[in-house]
Amino acid sequence: MSELYVGLMSGTSMDATDAVLVQIDADGKPALHTSLSFPIPIELRNRLLQLSVSDQWRADEFAELDVLFSEHSAVAVNELLSKAQVPAGNVTAIASHGQTVRHKPGHRSPYTLQLGDPSRLAFNTQIDVIHDFRRKDVAAGGQGAPLVPAFHRHIFAQREKSVAIVNLGGIANITWLGPQQQLLGFDTGPANTLMDQWIQHCNANKSYDENGHLASQGKVIEELLNVLLQHPFFSRKAPKSTGREEFNLAYLEPLLKANYTPEDVQRTLLALTAETLSNEINGLPTKPEQVYFCGGGTNNELLITEITQRLGSTICGTTQELGVDPQWVEAMAFAWLGWCYEHKRPGNHPAVTGAAAPVVLGSKTLFA
Ligand SMILES: Nc1ncnc2c1ncn2[C@@H]1O[C@H](COP(=O)(O)OP(=O)(O)O)[C@@H](O)[C@H]1O
Ligand SMILES: [Mg+2]
Repeated sequence: MSELYVGLMSGTSMDATDAVLVQIDADGKPALHTSLSFPIPIELRNRLLQLSVSDQWRADEFAELDVLFSEHSAVAVNELLSKAQVPAGNVTAIASHGQTVRHKPGHRSPYTLQLGDPSRLAFNTQIDVIHDFRRKDVAAGGQGAPLVPAFHRHIFAQREKSVAIVNLGGIANITWLGPQQQLLGFDTGPANTLMDQWIQHCNANKSYDENGHLASQGKVIEELLNVLLQHPFFSRKAPKSTGREEFNLAYLEPLLKANYTPEDVQRTLLALTAETLSNEINGLPTKPEQVYFCGGGTNNELLITEITQRLGSTICGTTQELGVDPQWVEAMAFAWLGWCYEHKRPGNHPAVTGAAAPVVLGSKTLFA
C-alpha cells in the first residue's frame, strides 16, 4: 500500500524550510508529489543564527525559538498541502528534521539538538509528527550525521559502477556508492556556509553569492587558502560530521589580513570548498565514474566548475540525471526516514555514522 509523507528540512544555511509531499510505495520507493521552499523570516533566522553560535544560552530564548520554529514549520506544511490539494487526513506523518542549533557528537556527553516543538507542529497541522531523527544514532555512539547516505543508496545505487552523490548545502556531504553495494558517507567540510557568512558580513543585503558573482571578481589568496586547509577537520578520518560550531566567522576573521579584499576572500572560500571536496572524492576507495550534485550549491556555476576541474576524468552532473530534482533530495530523504520509522526499519548506517548498531531513527508525537 502506498502512503503519503511530508518531509521537512532546514539545514545549516537556515535559508528556508524545504517541504515535500512524497508518495512512498510498499517497497519504500518514493515519488515526489508536491514541493515548496518556505523562506525562514529574517527575524527568526537572525535569532536562530545567534543561538547557534552563542556560548551563553538563555533558556527563555531557546524555549521561545522552539515554539516559533515549530509554528513556521506548521505554516509550511499547511501551505504545501493546500498547494497539493491533499487533506491532512491523507498524510501518514510529517517527518520533521527541525533546526539544528547544536551538533557536538564529539563532546564528552555527545549531543545534537534540533528545535521545532513537535507537539505544536502536530496540533497545528492535525498530522502525527516524527522528529529527532539524529538523536538515537548519537545515543548509539554515532555522529548522527550525515543521514542522507542511506537514502542515496536506496534510490541511486547503480550496479557495477562506482558513483558519488554530493550534497552542497551549508555543509557538504558525500555518499560513495561502490560497485558491490558498498557505502561510505561523511561531511567534507563547508560547502556554502563560510561563503554565505562572509558575503552577509560584507553586505547586509545579500544572503548568498548568487552564481559566485562576487567570487568571480576575485582571485585565490594562496596563503589564506593554505591556512584554511590546516583546519583539523579536513585531516580527520571518517566517520565525521561538522557544522557552524566549527566553521563560522569567529574561525575565519582572525585569519584575515587588512590587505585582503572581500572578493579575494570570497574566491578563496569557494576554492576551499572545491579543494577539500575534491580531495575527499579523489581519495575514495575507487574513483567514482560519475558525481551527481544536489543541494543549493548546485546553482553556483563557478563552484561546480571549480570542483569539476579538480576531478579529472570523473563525469559531473546533478541528481536530475537520476530523476530527482537536486533541490528536494534532502527533504525527500527525511520523508523516507519517516516511512522507515513507521515500518520499523533502521535509518542509519553504522559504516557512515559510526554508530554501534543500525537503529530505527526518530520519535513520534501523535496529533491528538
Ligand atoms: N543561485 C545560487 N548561487 C549561489 N549559491 C546558491 C544559489 N542558490 C542557492 N545557493 C546556495 O545554497 C544554499 C542553500 O542550500 P541548501 O541545500 O538549502 O542548504 P541547507 O541544507 O544548509 O539549507 C544557500 O545558502 C546558498 O549558499
Ligand atoms: Mg536550505
